[in-house]
This record gives sequence, C-alpha cells and structure tokens, in this order.
Amino acid sequence: MSSPPVNRFDGLRRLEPGAALLPLRVFLGATFVYAGIQKLSDPGFLHKGAPSYLGTQLHGFANGTPGGFILKTFAIPHVTLAGVGIAFAEIAIGLLVLIGLFTRGAAAAGLLINLLFLITASWKTYPYFLGSDVVFVFAWLPIALTGASGQPALEHTLARRARRPRPDAQAAAGALVGATPAAATRRELLVRASALTGVATLVLGGFSALAKGRYRARTSSLDATAKPPPTSTAAAPATVKQPPLPSGAVRLGPASRLRADQGATYRDPANGDPDLVIRHRNGTLTATSAVCTHAGCTVGYEGGQIVCPCHGATYDPQTGEATGGPAQGPLAKRGVLEQGGSIYAIPS
Ligand code: FES
Repeated sequence: MSSPPVNRFDGLRRLEPGAALLPLRVFLGATFVYAGIQKLSDPGFLHKGAPSYLGTQLHGFANGTPGGFILKTFAIPHVTLAGVGIAFAEIAIGLLVLIGLFTRGAAAAGLLINLLFLITASWKTYPYFLGSDVVFVFAWLPIALTGASGQPALEHTLARRARRPRPDAQAAAGALVGATPAAATRRELLVRASALTGVATLVLGGFSALAKGRYRARTSSLDATAKPPPTSTAAAPATVKQPPLPSGAVRLGPASRLRADQGATYRDPANGDPDLVIRHRNGTLTATSAVCTHAGCTVGYEGGQIVCPCHGATYDPQTGEATGGPAQGPLAKRGVLEQGGSIYAIPS
C-alpha cells in the first residue's frame, strides 16, 4: 500500500502567523544594531562643524515639525548626550529583539523611537512613503503586540528552564518571601540575561566609538577672507588687464586649490552659511548653498554628484536640483568667479 503523496506546501500552510514574523523581527533587530553602530562610528556625528554633525541635523528636524518641541526641550540643549543615548538605545533594542528577550517591550521602544523620527526627521518627506520611518513604525507594531510568540526566543527558553523542577529550587525559594521556586529561578535567569545584553551593548557601542578615529573633512574648504577684495591690478600680472571685480566679491583662495572634478566648501560672505563650489571636468565653476534642504546637514561633492552625508539626498552638481533621497527642494544657487588665479564668491 503506497503512502499518500506529501504536499511540499503543507509546511507553509501550517506556518504559525507568529513564525511568519521572524524575518521581520531579525531585520528590525539587525537594523537597529547597525544604526547604533553607524552613529557611534561616524567621526562627524558629534563633531561640531562636520557635515553630518547631529546638532545641525537636530535643528533641521526641529524646524516646523510636530515633534520639534521634544528635540528643542531634550536633545538640542544636550546634543552629545542625546546622540550617544539614542545610539546605545538602538543597539540595546536591536540585541534584545534579535535574541528574543523582553521582545514586546523592546519592540515598543523601537516603535517609539521611529515614531519620534517620523514626526521630526521624516515629517517633511513627500510623498510620505519615501520616508523609511513610517514603514518602521508599522513594522514594529506586530512585534510590539505579539512579541516573539511562535518564534525561537531566549525568553521562551528561560521560561521553559524555570518550569523545570530543580533540586535546589526549594531551598532558594525559602530565602525569598512570597516567591515561588519557579518565579525566583526565572527572575534570576532574566537578570543574568539582561546583564549580559547590557554588557554586549556597551562592548559593541564602545568598540564602535573607539573605531571611529578622528574626524577628517571629505570635501576640502576654501577660506573666505574678510578683507576687501583685491583690485584687478593687484590680483593679476601687470601685463594682463583684468576686468574689475563685482562689488562685494570676496576672495576664497587660489584657483589652483580646486582641481577638475573637485568641490570645496566655503562660508557664504553674506550670511555665513556653508556654500559649495565645484570645478567641473570642463574647468567651469558653479556654486550652490551647501545646506541640505532636507534637514540642514552640509552636503559635499562626491563621485560626480552632490551628496548629503546624513540621509543620502543627492543633487545635480550643475543645477543644484534634487535628484534623490529625502531632499525638500533644490540647493540655492550662489555666485562664484575665477579671475587672476583666484576664486571669488559673489554675494547674491
Ligand atoms: S539632512 Fe537629511 S538628507 Fe540631508
């Protein structure tokens, strides 16, 4: 007698809804660990003046967003504490979710962090589905509601071990007023597992912070001089007659400092904000504001495009038009001029 044919999809049909959430749980946990490590290992994250400086990002996120008052109250006055705190919190949440310990609580904390990002960092992203935080909020929700139900998780292992009768459990329980032997054992195991997770968080975060090295600017900078612009005769060889410079022109530096396919930032002579000048492959110069229109990080020139180091917005180097990422609009155009071997910023 032959056995009934086995349908290879039976296993999938019988898959518990909880088990189906395991890939999502692993993804969220791993992403949060990575996000924390990435923040702590970015040398510019807490370096004032760096393009990805958290303080600059926070000001951008707080401006005209519903969650701005939270950042203004708690994060902007304590940038370093806020940055380090959120990075370590992300690593701890990620580890807890990955190993399945206090899964619901950790997922709820992850949801709250992404909700805060949604009403601040991603608030101006249009259309909304281009921002990742809204997706993370809804991805965390089923994990926060059901935890690691139907999935392998450390909390299940600890609960099973706690239910196992132990010869010394009775004696241990005697020392704890009001605690059952199993509850005492489970608490003990949870405390140990939590302490190990805390140590792993500190080790991972500590190594990331140590590995970041010193901050080095990727885009070089030109120094605008506050002195009055030199006259054409002073800036050029005596034999070559140069046209007069536009009024208010400020010398940024020698033209030789900016080679083809390179960019450099400088302080806008009118408002002091960072601007970006680019020498294109054909030798021409263009300049735009270097303040990202998403949340105010300082953009740089990399690989033929203008790139924001904070959340990946990209812009066209010729026109300043946004070409990708969460940018809110084009970079404002700035005036630059090359004359007599020098580069000048022309106030608009
Ligand atoms: S500040 Fe977010 S992409 Fe630039």
